[in-house]
Amino acid sequence: MLWLNGQFCDPETASVSVFDRGFMFGDGVYEVIPVRAGQPFRLEAHLVRLAASLEATRIRSTLAQDAWHALIMDALARSGEIYGQIYVQITRGVAEHRSHDVEEMTPTELVMVQPSTPHTLEPLTLTVCEDYRWLRGDIKSTSLIAATLLRVQARERGTMDALMHRGGIVTECTSSNVFAVFGDTVVTPPANQHILHGITRSTVLGLRDLTVTLTERTLTLAELMSADEVFVTSSNQGVRPVASIDDRVFRTTAPRTLEISAALEGQMTAQT
Ligand code: PDD
Repeated sequence: MLWLNGQFCDPETASVSVFDRGFMFGDGVYEVIPVRAGQPFRLEAHLVRLAASLEATRIRSTLAQDAWHALIMDALARSGEIYGQIYVQITRGVAEHRSHDVEEMTPTELVMVQPSTPHTLEPLTLTVCEDYRWLRGDIKSTSLIAATLLRVQARERGTMDALMHRGGIVTECTSSNVFAVFGDTVVTPPANQHILHGITRSTVLGLRDLTVTLTERTLTLAELMSADEVFVTSSNQGVRPVASIDDRVFRTTAPRTLEISAALEGQMTAQT
């Protein structure tokens, strides 16, 4: 199911100009919203983050937040998708010719509803990388070349993703937030400008009746390496355990991670 610039259209024939700023400059923002039992999970939170990304980038959507809400619900109903994801992208629009100048233009707006594969508990292997992305990791920008290169570097080293840090302070992975378990305390880095304020991260921080205490604080790389368990969170992956970071191997039975994963999945099914 695809909606582009005001109308539902055939995904096979839908097209965008090569002069679109998203194509030429990566000049756009996006959201990925999970769908469970045919309902979006935490749609309002995703729309609030989308509004923040638009505001920060001065991209002016043609739709207000309630109109986005109605459109997404309509697209989802038309798709009939039960378990999937909604992808929303807004670029600054189509320029007349390639120029760094930012003239007034009409944004290019896209909604796609697609099936997705169930969250897996297959553990991730990570490589430590300096976080050389820009200083506004809190903006969910379509400019993902740094994240892509970091993922490529992790793959070249035989691992699945990059665990990033700035000067020894842990930030996040290329498409997920990171948590570390120390006994009965679970720590995740604070939501500042260096990381995406993940919706899954905030859902996990809001879980109640766990055997652990969840807290946000600065986490050093050295501390992370001494954790009992490490896991990552994202809309695509849910809670996913980490098997190794460089040479540090974490135990394969990760009871706290499994407890939090089960609580998240329960909430995703119940809250929709
Ligand atoms: N990525 N950090 C980064 C850099 C991300 O790209 C993502 C999500 C997250 C987790 O955010 P959330 O819990 O809201 O999904 C953290 C999405 C899923 C993507 O780019 O496809």
